[in-house]
Amino acid sequence: MYLGIDLGTSGVKAMLIDDDQRVIGSANGALTVQRPHSGWSEQNPADWIAATRAAVTGLKGEFSRELAAVRGIGLSGHMHGATLIDDRDQVLRPCILWNDTRSHQEAAELDADPRFRALTGNIVFPGFTAPKLLWVKNNEPEVFSRVSSVLLPKDYLRLWLTGEYLSDMSDSAGTSWLDTGKRAWSSELLAATHLTESQMPGLVEGTDRAGKLRKEVAADWGMGDVVVAGGAGDNAASACGMGTVREGAAFVSLGTSGVLFAANAAYLPKPESAVHAFCHALPATWHQMGVILSATDALNWYSGITGKPAGELTTELGDDLKAPSGVTFLPYLSGERTPHNDAAIRGAFVGLGHDSSRAVLTQAVLEGVAFAIRDSLEALKAAGTTLSRVTAIGGGSRSRYWLSAIATVLGIPVDIPADGDFGAAFGAARLGLIAATGADPLSVLTAPETEAVVEPATAHAAAYEAAYQKYRALYPAIKSL
Ligand code: XUL
Repeated sequence: MYLGIDLGTSGVKAMLIDDDQRVIGSANGALTVQRPHSGWSEQNPADWIAATRAAVTGLKGEFSRELAAVRGIGLSGHMHGATLIDDRDQVLRPCILWNDTRSHQEAAELDADPRFRALTGNIVFPGFTAPKLLWVKNNEPEVFSRVSSVLLPKDYLRLWLTGEYLSDMSDSAGTSWLDTGKRAWSSELLAATHLTESQMPGLVEGTDRAGKLRKEVAADWGMGDVVVAGGAGDNAASACGMGTVREGAAFVSLGTSGVLFAANAAYLPKPESAVHAFCHALPATWHQMGVILSATDALNWYSGITGKPAGELTTELGDDLKAPSGVTFLPYLSGERTPHNDAAIRGAFVGLGHDSSRAVLTQAVLEGVAFAIRDSLEALKAAGTTLSRVTAIGGGSRSRYWLSAIATVLGIPVDIPADGDFGAAFGAARLGLIAATGADPLSVLTAPETEAVVEPATAHAAAYEAAYQKYRALYPAIKSL
């Protein structure tokens, strides 16, 4: 048995799989995000531990025998968060999350230093870890002076689980301190943010062994000797779950954020396209991705406004794609990464009329996210990666309507995997299996069967292309305001 633990933005998911990678069960522990100021997004690391405990306790009720047989644990987590701890492992302040844009000035400052793009292969985005540390230095100098270790969210969970200060390459690539081609910390970039390598965790590959479960936690969960794998940032972990590990394989993830992810056999940086070029969870493998900050987050925001659950809003549209709504929605609720790298921009509805009913606006929200993903497709193209099809994952992929809009706007088929949960928790469990057994990663990280293919709706293709061009024209117009 193997356990995957995915620390997501809205909750922790724990998933048990057996030696044949069959899912035995899963359970969740809920999390909330605190937004004390506009553009801020924080979580208390103690809540991650409580949610992890709740999720594993949830499994224990039904699967205590299976938990006792766990040999390996894999970790996945939301990326880029700055978890700051002192020399006694005390958390110094709430973790500043991936979608927090307060450090946009610090990010621009670091990004202007050409060494960052040259060594990391990425823009220094405000959501990445390095500018957050500079923000803390500038605004909370007392906290900064006590930082003994900087850990990514899932690696803070690892510290609690194993007592080890370790991180994997895929998650570390999102800090702006990793030399992504060499898969090593850059002491030069750390020094540019007034830090040293001694404050960073040791580096391992996602498939490596990276600690053993502490006796206290093992006893609490009814487990014995358990290896903890390096694990991965949530996107690379999802790719492990989906078998998106070989060149050419790609997925679109409709989670809180939206991600268009492509596996690469080589390191292919193209920072000016705002594509992320990161290490993959397997040795000597990389990936590219376009990231939009609000995917289901945009729909959930609209659901809050209308007071209707997101599922009901999408069901109201039916499954068959309609002509474009005529209203353009820009999903920039917390700014945008790919392709704009703009923390200050905010969303908009444009083209409202008396006929703009709730359903029309739901349609506009789904279209706006599809257009944002098309922007990522164009950015990937500019970075040398042309996709011929993608597999859909994440909560939003339950809406056929949304997938049909995405297939049409991207102009490529969207594959729906056979029933099952192949997300980050499953990918993490697979990494736990590889680390514990030494199995060949490529033989474990296979792709699920495709259950259905959503083809572009050719009858609407021209209309959606025109709507996309309108969408593209709106960003510069709104920015100039
Ligand atoms: C990726 C990113 C998000 C988070 C949250 O760069 O910021 O996808 O990992 O899931």
